[in-house]
Amino acid sequence: MLKIAVMVSGGGTNLQALIDAERRGELKNGELSAVISSNADAYALERANRAFIPSYVLRRRDFDSTDAYGDALAEMLGQLDIGLVVLAGFMTVLSPDFCRRFEGRIINIHPSLIPSFCGPSFYGLHVHEAALAKGVKVTGATVHFVSEVVDGGAIILQKAVEVREGDTPEVLQKRVMQEAEWKLLPRAVSLFCEGRLKIEGEKVHIIE
Ligand code: GRF
Repeated sequence: MLKIAVMVSGGGTNLQALIDAERRGELKNGELSAVISSNADAYALERANRAFIPSYVLRRRDFDSTDAYGDALAEMLGQLDIGLVVLAGFMTVLSPDFCRRFEGRIINIHPSLIPSFCGPSFYGLHVHEAALAKGVKVTGATVHFVSEVVDGGAIILQKAVEVREGDTPEVLQKRVMQEAEWKLLPRAVSLFCEGRLKIEGEKVHIIE
């Protein structure tokens, strides 16, 4: 079994989707082994406790630099023997050094169809505000490998979601989560743990 660490900062509905998928036996060859939060008050920690997953808090402000934070995180992941790091609503930017050390072993979920509405200023509701301001008729979610470029790593899975007349950012966010994020993330994690993702240059191939 490959040990999975889920990194969170907030509500943790994507973490919950992973917990539910594991219970249904849908995370093949993977085991949710740790939840690491950048925020001591994150509701995601409660979800981890209820599922009996060991949880840890690692706050950016307790470290002098992004590098020092990355080093502490790398140390923790090493001690826990983690094979896959999943960023699920993790709001702290990781150091380039950390990203290099864990290259090909960190994945992130982003609530748009990358390369639209992504990059440093696109997080949380801002992503959906931007999609509505542009007037796109279709948006969605993307699971991708994490590289040093924010939201720039190789794409693993994407799913489109319809934008409807009268949508608010909140309504659209909820639909993207329900129809795309909560389905894509467990699928991508399972594919990774089964060894079915092959990175070739900038592309990810899914092995049948
Ligand atoms: C999700 O929309 C995710 O795509 C983004 O942050 C949000 C986290 O939500 N990266 P939750 O904490 O999983 O409920």
